Amino acid sequence: MISNFSFPTRIRFGAGAVRELPEHLKTLGIHKPLIVTDPGLLATDAFKALERISGKQWAVFSGVHPNPIMEDVDAATAAYREGKCDAVIAFGGGSALDVGKVIRLCLKRPDQPLIPFDFDADWSGLAPCVAIPTTAGTGSEVGRSSVIIKDGRKRVIFHPSLLASLVILDPELTRGLPPKLTAATGADALIHCIESFTSPVFHPLCDGIALEGIHLVGDSLARAVRNGSDIEARGKMLVAAAMGAIAFQKDLGAIHSLAHPLSTFCGLHHGTANALCAPFVMEFNAARKPGIYRRVGIAFGLNDPEDATTIKHVRALLGEIGLAPGLRAYGVKESLLDPMADQAFDDSCHQTNPVPVTRDDLRRLYQLAL
Ligand SMILES: [Fe+2]
Repeated sequence: MISNFSFPTRIRFGAGAVRELPEHLKTLGIHKPLIVTDPGLLATDAFKALERISGKQWAVFSGVHPNPIMEDVDAATAAYREGKCDAVIAFGGGSALDVGKVIRLCLKRPDQPLIPFDFDADWSGLAPCVAIPTTAGTGSEVGRSSVIIKDGRKRVIFHPSLLASLVILDPELTRGLPPKLTAATGADALIHCIESFTSPVFHPLCDGIALEGIHLVGDSLARAVRNGSDIEARGKMLVAAAMGAIAFQKDLGAIHSLAHPLSTFCGLHHGTANALCAPFVMEFNAARKPGIYRRVGIAFGLNDPEDATTIKHVRALLGEIGLAPGLRAYGVKESLLDPMADQAFDDSCHQTNPVPVTRDDLRRLYQLAL
């Protein structure tokens, strides 16, 4: 089998890096960008910092929903055309980044529906996109896919041309993120690293990146939750989130298959949904593939750990940042477990779980996490 390795995105990292934006736009030949973001960001210090840089001269679309829907994509595409824009600045959490990245496909082929997505069409020469995350979680800024809800289901649109032209990771922009969101998004980053590292796909470059991502999260997530102004911890989490997303080119696992229906059925934050399921899936995997989490534990700094020790460490970290188990506390009802298990089994992530899972396994895991 021939494998495919590529790490092409240019990343500018550091406190204050966003202030370089005008120079980068000049270099990229961009005159009138559209900022794509969500309404919650407009009042934040992060958005105000961007406004200061733009002199309020750039068009803004701020209608992205927390779990973006096709209508958000259509409205953002219309705003781009109305504003006669020539590039996208995707600014915010994973949702804003996903919409910002994907509207370039609609602009390139206006007559073609996005879903079902025609991977083989000519998607070259898309409008440039600068991705600037204000959370440290999804890593969508370095990803080549966007997740959009259509007809009540999360659809993944994947294409290498969706990669951003430039990524700016500025920890100053995540300083104002509240502890709860810092915890949920950070847990997502951690689980990207754990699931990609333990997925059986052959990709040693991603494996190395995932392990260092776990190390960075172990070192900084609880600190960033405790003290949002800890710029060093914020910076490490931003890098870890990008690394998690680079690593999951390898694909994810059953934790993500369980998490996706928890968002669509019950509106749980994606990171929270992952965190509430993670320890149970790890126990399930470790029982069938002993030793699977040994190097994950070492990356956390544990000394030659058993799987149980590593899982205990993950539980303790999630508990420390306020993500203690119990789906019931988040309004998940037992009557939903069957339809959610059906949808989780339909989700492709578990196909790269370290051990195979059945629909009934997923149902049992929901029950355990309840
Ligand atoms: Fe995720």
